Amino acid sequence: MTFNNLNLQLEAGIGMLTINRPKKLNALNKATILELHQALKALDQDQNVRVIVLTGSGDKAFVAGADISEFADFNVSEAAQLSREGQELLFDFAENLSTPIIAAINGFALGGGLELAMAAHIRVASSTARMGLPEVSLGVIPGYGGTQRLAQLVGKGRALQMITTAEMIDASKAEQWGLVNSVTAPEDLLSYCLSLSEKIKRNGPLAIAAAIEAVNANYKDGLNGYDVEITAFAKSFGTADFKEGTSAFLQKRKANFTGN
Ligand code: COA
Repeated sequence: MTFNNLNLQLEAGIGMLTINRPKKLNALNKATILELHQALKALDQDQNVRVIVLTGSGDKAFVAGADISEFADFNVSEAAQLSREGQELLFDFAENLSTPIIAAINGFALGGGLELAMAAHIRVASSTARMGLPEVSLGVIPGYGGTQRLAQLVGKGRALQMITTAEMIDASKAEQWGLVNSVTAPEDLLSYCLSLSEKIKRNGPLAIAAAIEAVNANYKDGLNGYDVEITAFAKSFGTADFKEGTSAFLQKRKANFTGN
């Protein structure tokens, strides 16, 4: 697959997806959101891909937000469409993907950029990264799920502080607040994400997909996460991966999961 605004590399079951608009600090325009949707969908459908690492090109930014130049003239209904379509195509789509996504936050993750990182399943930041939801400084609020996911990750008080002040926090505070799982030196960011990917790759992909679904269920209105867990737990007993995983343990060998 070729893209205008993304680089995609596949290696040993890992999809390395790099948002590539460095001159615009990888800001998310409509075309990039669509390409990210297409790339994530294709990676998720490829049984050989077990983990996706998402990062930004250059050493300055992961993503500096939604592309402000694209929506500056929008009216109320165009804004509603922008937010809804973006959430459906990218942010909710990524969060509900069966294949785990690790966001490698290599620099500024602002507005839609932080919202994208928050939609990933795991976040790792370079020590140089800075994160924030500065939308109110533009007279608007986060529109790609930021008001919801930031409060889920750091708690309501800290989320409201970040949103109302529009201030950025550094990587170490982001780690302290639980916004990112770990912080690395800039030169170690990708290798650390790849080492996490290797650990994930050892495990049953169907079980991982089911775990993502069950954890996400807690955050969805009208769903009982415990019920989703019971159903998904039971379903795994019908998979070849479960037979393989348990047999491998009892036979004291490494499991060879096929995703069936
Ligand atoms: N949308 C569109 N373009 C953006 C952008 C965004 N969110 N963020 C950065 N860019 C563009 C700049 O306009 C500039 O383009 P130009 O060279 O054609 O003028 C280029 O990227 C470089 O950005 P610049 O502002 O010159 O870099 P800087 O190092 O001085 O500042 C930031 C970096 C991240 C602090 C600053 O770019 C910024 O505040 N960006 C907007 C962040 C934001 O509000 N995001 C939320 C959007 S809802």
